[in-house]
Amino acid sequence: MIQHFTGLSDLSAQQIHSLIERAVEFSSIDRQQLKKVLPHSVIANVFFEPSTRTRISFEMAAKLLGSEVINFDLSNSSVKKGETLYDTLRTLEAIGCDAIVLRHSDDRIFETIKEKFTIPLINAGAGRFEHPSQGLLDLYTLKHEFGKLEGLNITILGDVKHSRVAGTMIICAQKLGLNITICAPENFIPAQLSANCKLSTIENSLPSADAVMCLRNQFERHELVDFDAQAYHLEWGLTNERAQMLPSHAIIMHPAPINRGMEIADELVESKQSRIFQQMTNGVYSRMSILEWILKGTL
Ligand code: CP
Repeated sequence: MIQHFTGLSDLSAQQIHSLIERAVEFSSIDRQQLKKVLPHSVIANVFFEPSTRTRISFEMAAKLLGSEVINFDLSNSSVKKGETLYDTLRTLEAIGCDAIVLRHSDDRIFETIKEKFTIPLINAGAGRFEHPSQGLLDLYTLKHEFGKLEGLNITILGDVKHSRVAGTMIICAQKLGLNITICAPENFIPAQLSANCKLSTIENSLPSADAVMCLRNQFERHELVDFDAQAYHLEWGLTNERAQMLPSHAIIMHPAPINRGMEIADELVESKQSRIFQQMTNGVYSRMSILEWILKGTL
């Protein structure tokens, strides 16, 4: 059976830990010493939503492992002539791609199509469902920082309801024993909260947080009329004043792209406590781990 990578919800805690450990190994190997474990492979990046980090770091990860990469150009493709997503992906399979890294706005896209493919499909973000490679790099970042995951207190701040990044972290936290506190305006709180999640105020949550994960407002997934970025920042953003409430060991995370001055103060993005750009570096190692597993069956 083909092994797809559709969500961390499909994996056991042990499998997630193994992927993180392999990513850690990749981070410790000089580029010149890296074994090209995917020679003669061709991976297609197919993004139906915009992306900078996920697309380019999957490409970087694939190339570091010796694979070729095809970046599907949506705007010049036959999708513009009405070709369906399914026929587009089947075409890439027929042409000889060995795996497809797919981002799409439909929450259920992988569930709908995965059984029809004989090459692996890799989730690079599916609607509000999951963003598993982001989840893995977030866990990697936390593990690298604290040497453990179990028992960590993570505050997730902002548009939790529409964020697949937050959704993936909440799923993983349940599997791996992290404690999640959500601080969000009422319209950004998910309808259901799992047992390991609680709601709190920013002021009550930050003093005991090991990490605060700031989220971008997912404007593409909801309508906010008369949105006032400055008022949002003052009420729900990680301001300089609020960051002072964090313990000295705590880290600031954000999946990016960032709206500086909206969900997080500009100065905090590159502050001493921030790991935001380190998360992007870690994303390459995490995606190497995913690609090796999916294409070589190493887990
Ligand atoms: N974090 C993330 O998914 O970024 P991109 O949308 O740029 O890929």
